[in-house]
Amino acid sequence: MRAVAVFPAERRTALVDHPEPLLERDDEVLLEVLDVGICGTDLEIARYEYGTPPAGSPYLVLGHESLARVLRAGAAATRVRPGDLVVTRVRRPCPRPECRACPRGRPDFCFTGEFTERGIKGRHGFMTERIVDEERFMHVVPARLRDVGVLVEPLTIAEKALFQVWDVQARLPWTAAGTPAGSGHGQRAVVLGAGPVGLLGALALLARGFETWVYSRDPAGGTKARWVDSVGAGYLSSATTSLGQLAERVGSVDLVYEATGAAGIAFRALDVLGVNGVFVFTGVPGRKTPIELDGSGLMRRLVLENQLVFGTVNAGADAYDAAVEDLARFDARWARPLRALITGRFAAEEAPRLLADPPPGIKSVVTFAERG
Ligand code: BGC
Repeated sequence: MRAVAVFPAERRTALVDHPEPLLERDDEVLLEVLDVGICGTDLEIARYEYGTPPAGSPYLVLGHESLARVLRAGAAATRVRPGDLVVTRVRRPCPRPECRACPRGRPDFCFTGEFTERGIKGRHGFMTERIVDEERFMHVVPARLRDVGVLVEPLTIAEKALFQVWDVQARLPWTAAGTPAGSGHGQRAVVLGAGPVGLLGALALLARGFETWVYSRDPAGGTKARWVDSVGAGYLSSATTSLGQLAERVGSVDLVYEATGAAGIAFRALDVLGVNGVFVFTGVPGRKTPIELDGSGLMRRLVLENQLVFGTVNAGADAYDAAVEDLARFDARWARPLRALITGRFAAEEAPRLLADPPPGIKSVVTFAERG
């Protein structure tokens, strides 16, 4: 069957003939892949800067943002049935019993670094016609989300980040007490970056009642700015608005959700974080030349203003469940803008070209099956 694969040693990305997966165990499920999203990590892998094929394989099948349909479920599978739509988690636990996270089902917090990731590190991904995986890694997606279900995985980044934000902000008694768990009402958030992770993050924040601003390099009045406006957030372009002006315009910022992967802008944006604020890093920058920072100023503010900065990667089962629920909420409230995030659908044959020369737009999706 067809698969999109990267050969790191040969520095080549191609459509290959990949062996059919077999349903070998009772707790496994055979899936027909429908959609696979392309993200920055895939582009990095296709530039041969990241990613590891499974042991013994010259190539890595790409793809970790998936939506698939259940074809056949092993006898011990209880949650999924043939025909169900599912999204499968990316990361798999490391083999080390001493890892405090993996044996507890949280490889997204793996201590040893020996975790694997489908389509990224040591395991083939989802950019192929059929896959087999264990049922426990799958999350059922309602049929009405067929055309946007592929956005679940990128949305899990925001979901995991927000779980952690609630945990740390429980330190502020007035935030925790008396408000529905996880409510962002009355709080102000700035999203840095208007890629898929940023824009999905903005929807997650809006859905929780945050006053939400998106700051990115795309021009004011452009497509992204109009998208942001259409969902009820504010848009400021870094081309015409400095961070100082942003601070004046927005006021005290309770949360900065970074989704640019660019250290220069991200660290400078720490200046706009308000008292008791939280700054979340989600972007993974390439290895670039060092940037200069005012360390003392930063440290002063972190201490004197009780600020918190954290990074977050990957996601656990709870974040996938939350992402599926949120996507249904977004669908009810922002049906059109949600769909507008997917700016291109392409056949598998086109994937090598897309990976080498990504089209402009927000989210490109490689489609394996006929829509329906
Ligand atoms: C994926 C994560 C993964 C990370 C690092 C991201 O693109 O969304 O699941 O953990 O890359 O490999």
